[in-house]
Amino acid sequence: YQYEVYFNALRGVVPDLPMTYSELAARAESVLPPSLWSYVAGGAGDEYTQRANVRAFERWGLIPRMLVGATERDLSVELFGMTLPSPLFMAPVGVLGLCSQDGHGDLATARAAARTGVPMVASTLSVDPMEAVAAEFGQTPGFFQLYTPTDRELAASLVERAEKAGFKAIVVTLDTWIPGWRPRDLSTGNFPQLRGHCLANYTSDPVFRAGLERTPEEDMQAATLRWAQLFGNPLTWNDLPWLRSLTRLPLILKGICHPDDARRAKDGGVDAIYCSNHGGRQANGGLAALDVLAGVVEAADGLPVLFDSGVRSGVDIVKAIALGATAVGVGRPYTYGLALGGTEGVVHVLRWLLAEADLTMAVDGYPSLADLTPGTLRRAA
Ligand code: FNR
Repeated sequence: YQYEVYFNALRGVVPDLPMTYSELAARAESVLPPSLWSYVAGGAGDEYTQRANVRAFERWGLIPRMLVGATERDLSVELFGMTLPSPLFMAPVGVLGLCSQDGHGDLATARAAARTGVPMVASTLSVDPMEAVAAEFGQTPGFFQLYTPTDRELAASLVERAEKAGFKAIVVTLDTWIPGWRPRDLSTGNFPQLRGHCLANYTSDPVFRAGLERTPEEDMQAATLRWAQLFGNPLTWNDLPWLRSLTRLPLILKGICHPDDARRAKDGGVDAIYCSNHGGRQANGGLAALDVLAGVVEAADGLPVLFDSGVRSGVDIVKAIALGATAVGVGRPYTYGLALGGTEGVVHVLRWLLAEADLTMAVDGYPSLADLTPGTLRRAA
């Protein structure tokens, strides 16, 4: 990607999309409506955890190795029998639809997945229904993220639709059965779903519709109220066999931070663990997700571990892999790309992250992901 940028510059074409995370965020702030910006950029409490997520990466340093001849790098990853071109994926973001200029950001992001081969985890909370999102994936596999409603029949319907639409795995998010304490949103009064936004997967669902007296097209307020009643299912470990029974697709539990939880998930028959603290938007206990990764990986005992929260650069991807992650997700970075440039903006951010990861491996002498072990890192501070 960097050669493309430099050669374009020789022809007088200088990139108008940012090349640093701070500029990316600043420009996204300037184009998004203020309350939406606050929703995306903000987190729980005083946002200590959110900052800790990012800082945790700075405390690890990669040790450069010389004379390795890392002229070719292999970033490919095997996951659920698929070969992915790289470990990078797009974490589920529930307001994507609202973040692009045309109001169909889920579709724009899915098109970026098709163009880059970087999988998208599509959120339950989308502007366009999952079938329309999946139709844009091209050859790139997509995963469906489930917020488990209290109505089991509705949960089953959502999963069945995801299977039919061609999604390749189901990601069940555990840490958001109730929204966290988010001062920025409390200040602006903006909670998008309560305004009827991003509910297409519900309003298009036959089970959801059957529970309404009037269709969402006739009475969106009643539909929103019904959604609010159904949204949060405080699942327990007793529900895991039921979740497992919902699908033959690979099942991933998102939000696991404790080794004991990773062990229980594995015993319960899941196919992968997703270590994340929701980008600091939910629990605000102060511990960075990166700091719990190694413990989760050890407890997962060979099961793939997906990771997100605080990844802001290609170097961060490399560090998370070295600490044991199988695949690494970003949330806010690509959402900001979407806000700035739609599909082009997302593609730009993904290509930048991948190019930086690849060049880091080249410069530091680690030609494949298998070469990235905990021993390649030193605690820097
Ligand atoms: C999220 N995240 C999220 N997770 C999920 O499972 N379902 C969802 O609908 C959402 N929605 C959502 C909205 C917004 C605006 C953000 C920023 C995040 C969490 C997301 O999947 C991921 O865990 C974090 O975004 C990762 O942290 P970073 O990369 O944003 O630091």
